[in-house]
Amino acid sequence: MEIIRDPQEVQALAADWRARGLRIALVPTMGYFHGGHLSLMEYGKTISEKLVVSLFVNPAQFGPEEDVDRYPRDLEQDAALAREVGVDLLYTPEAAAMYPPGYQTFVAVERLSQGWCGASRPGHFRGVATVVLKLFNQVQPHAAVFGEKDYQQLAVIKRLVSDLDLPLTVVGRPIVRDPDGLALSSRNTYLSREERSAALCLNQALKATRRLVENRVTSREQILKTVRKIITQAPFTRIDYLALVHPETLEEVDTVRGESRMLLAVWVGQTRLIDNILLRESPECCV
Ligand code: PAJ
Repeated sequence: MEIIRDPQEVQALAADWRARGLRIALVPTMGYFHGGHLSLMEYGKTISEKLVVSLFVNPAQFGPEEDVDRYPRDLEQDAALAREVGVDLLYTPEAAAMYPPGYQTFVAVERLSQGWCGASRPGHFRGVATVVLKLFNQVQPHAAVFGEKDYQQLAVIKRLVSDLDLPLTVVGRPIVRDPDGLALSSRNTYLSREERSAALCLNQALKATRRLVENRVTSREQILKTVRKIITQAPFTRIDYLALVHPETLEEVDTVRGESRMLLAVWVGQTRLIDNILLRESPECCV
């Protein structure tokens, strides 16, 4: 596995791969790999001849209140894990190379970036869309793989690619969870033992919504009421938002019709966690 820091070097290598007709897949990450990241890499391997993983803790997507320097990092361990999966290139640019002095170009996926996580973290998706577009231009992938864990991010990137006619396919992959249901996240390392156990309420609440829909309880009001109850009963929790939305526009829906997505963001102590689930209206009749 190669490790490259220089954007121009990566671009030249990618151009060479393309000229040789090799299919490139990119998994963009901020590092501190866990099973979620690794599942994206494993999948990336199956759809490409050259798998690139980018590792860049992108300052542009952190708000002024959010500490980019506190974000967990372990390059040595990450490189070992990526090598094990069979990653061809680990691309780890420096902030100064991504945003050199005089840098001033940003892209915004306007409507999709406003609500939910975008409302709690103004400027976040502008930072994400910008860095991902830069990574696409540098790595020139045929396909890019993202997790459904960051569901709004996935929707933003799909829109970016479609709106700007970028010549690549965006693939969304399922959320990887610990056996007790907690969605894997680099931020879980911030949780104390008690907080981690309280955090299980996120997945419990989401699973409860699926049971409601299976039993034909499909109104937003009833679904959100159940979620709110389960989450507020757990200690250390404070709800940021709960949203029952259309899976592509992320606009709120009144009832689960066809497919909807239940999104939530919850503070557990000082740590903000997100999770989501697909809800599918069950067929009209049975027997
Ligand atoms: P990061 O948080 O490192 O996540 C990298 C990728 O891993 C994202 O696509 C995310 O959705 C996915 N992921 C995280 N946890 C997951 C889980 N439990 N199951 C499945 N996939 C999971 O998301 C970012 O980095 C950044 O915003 C980035 C896109 C790299 C832009 O800076």
